[in-house]
Amino acid sequence: MVKLAPSILSADFARLLEDVKKVEKAGCEYLHIDVMDGHFVPNITLGPGIVKSLRKDVNMVFDAHLMIENPDKYIKEFVDAGCDIITVHVEACTHLHRTIQNIKSYGIKAGVVLNPATSLDTIKYVLDDVDMVLLMSVNPGFGGQSYIPCVTEKIKELRKMIDERGLNVEIEVDGGVKPSNIKEVVDAGADVCVAGSAIFGHEDIDEAVKALRENAK
Ligand code: DX5
Ligand code: ZN
Repeated sequence: MVKLAPSILSADFARLLEDVKKVEKAGCEYLHIDVMDGHFVPNITLGPGIVKSLRKDVNMVFDAHLMIENPDKYIKEFVDAGCDIITVHVEACTHLHRTIQNIKSYGIKAGVVLNPATSLDTIKYVLDDVDMVLLMSVNPGFGGQSYIPCVTEKIKELRKMIDERGLNVEIEVDGGVKPSNIKEVVDAGADVCVAGSAIFGHEDIDEAVKALRENAK
């Protein structure tokens, strides 16, 4: 069964814990935490302080998606805040292999993220070292954008690369995932689907989660 990772980018920041408790109660597995610095992407969100506050009251897997320049500088802070998985963009890492080892040195899971236009070739030599590959299906920066259709083919190709090498690497897909396209994403090979507006954009979060789960089958 596909794992769901609600993105708190679309939550009500004034009622963040309340919103997060709702997705936890609805059975969502990962909490997707979008960290933006206003440089790598044209938006600013939150830092390790907020993650640390949430950690005290939430038992979900904390999946931190760092959309920041110089991620190495902040990895320890996000680890200390309680993240279980940290993913970094290949486009933001000059020494990607070193950054992955840096994350793993703290005993947590490491992942790499690819923008829609970035080729799978860029992770060919690090695929054996990561726990997750996050494929962006929108250009990062904002919630509520539309799924870019050619990413489906990219998911299939990545699935093939992982299976051919017999690796235990999760594929996460992020951006524009909705009840209308989640089956296409899962059938292509995704293990984890991020959903921001498709979950927090709804009054009834239980219903929104149910709609995604039912349509994923
Ligand atoms: C975009 C973020 C996504 C975003 C997804 O930069 O990485 O996680 O919040 O939101 P939706 O599901 O609304 O596209
Ligand atoms: Zn994200």
